[in-house]
Amino acid sequence: MKIAVLESGERIASVAADMYCKLLADKPSAVLGLATGSSPVPLYDELVKRYKQGDVSFKDTTAFLLDEYVGLPAGHPEGYRNFIERVFASRVDFAPGAVRGPDGTARDVRQAAEDYEAAIRASGGIDLQLLGIGTDGHIAFNEPGGSLSSLTHSQVLTEQTRIDNARFFDGDVSQVPRFCLTQGLGTIGRASSVLLIAQGAQKARAVAEMVEGAVSALWPATVLQFHNDATILLDEDAAHQLKLRDHYQAEWDAL
Ligand code: F6R
Repeated sequence: MKIAVLESGERIASVAADMYCKLLADKPSAVLGLATGSSPVPLYDELVKRYKQGDVSFKDTTAFLLDEYVGLPAGHPEGYRNFIERVFASRVDFAPGAVRGPDGTARDVRQAAEDYEAAIRASGGIDLQLLGIGTDGHIAFNEPGGSLSSLTHSQVLTEQTRIDNARFFDGDVSQVPRFCLTQGLGTIGRASSVLLIAQGAQKARAVAEMVEGAVSALWPATVLQFHNDATILLDEDAAHQLKLRDHYQAEWDAL
């Protein structure tokens, strides 16, 4: 893993945006994996800024969301397909239909999961997968206790995740869906590169387990220890339980 502890959210967004600009300059038709939730929002704002400056274009790019709630009505603002449209996709130049997410309104969620996995494969695979991390160590919505090699599947959200995400639903946990469709840990592992952003002390335990803990279904993000091109961008608070922090910094500085 390449791990950087950066001084501010702006700096994290800037370093992450550099990675997108480089990738899309080298490969304008790259396939992106996009995350929702609060962690990537400053990055999306930075990418919108750079797009407006003419530094990057998404017109030949396709993108796949990590996950989607099951059971929300199609137009619900917190549905992840709607979230990404509002926060990012509609603000840059993706072609119509270029950004896809799992179909959380499908009658047959198992089929929807298989179709989504097949679509990712048919695209040629994800070049750069963006990730956040849950306080319980989930990436995408792969909650603790699942297979470390799963493909896109339906998933029950943990009570902790529903409590964490209640802030998007007027603070009311009962409004947070119980089910979701999510790329699996195996799906994420197939991405050519992954970029995980974590900020805040509430993520510190999960970050420390992910980077330095034993690989375990109890902390799903630990599977990233097997990925050969994973970049982790942290703020001080999210990094504060890392034991080898100075070493990671030295390695980052030497890149
Ligand atoms: C979102 C996703 C989740 C979030 C995680 C952190 O698409 O897959 O894994 O990345 O729950 O959420 P935030 O960034 O809101 O703390």
